[in-house]
Amino acid sequence: MCHTEIDISRNHNNHTNKTMKITLSIVSLAFLLASPVAFGDAAEIYGKNCASCHGADGKGQTAMGKKFKLKDYTDAKVQASFSDKEATTVILEGKGAMKTKGKVADADVAGLVKYIRAFKK
Ligand code: HEC
Repeated sequence: MCHTEIDISRNHNNHTNKTMKITLSIVSLAFLLASPVAFGDAAEIYGKNCASCHGADGKGQTAMGKKFKLKDYTDAKVQASFSDKEATTVILEGKGAMKTKGKVADADVAGLVKYIRAFKK
């Protein structure tokens, strides 16, 4: 009797594990499918609002970029010189000649930070 009860509870656990695994797989798949879309938005926003200074390649080798001595975002040392939080603040608040305040929606900032990070070689 007792033995049977333990078996039942084991089976139940197995079932829960399977359900968990399936749920996790669905969640990961949803993230995989969602990320290129989010990145596409960031690419568009970057192209329209940031590339004129920071360059389409993130190197800052535009006329404006040279004037403001912008950093090369493909350089790992440059990437390490600021945190995601600092980048977020600069994008939302602007900094000096970078007048992006009010131009980027809160919901788009994380995507832009990711986009900038992706320039790193
Ligand atoms: C008018 C030119 C200009 C535009 C447009 C511009 N930036 Fe900047 N960006 C700057 C300047 C100038 C700085 C400050 C560099 C410094 O600290 O001396 C800066 C700094 C930053 C920083 C902080 C890290 C760093 O390099 O110091 C990030 C992140 C950044 N910009 C991202 C963006 C994003 C994303 C956009 C588009 C939404 C954007 N910038 C648009 C000129 C610009």
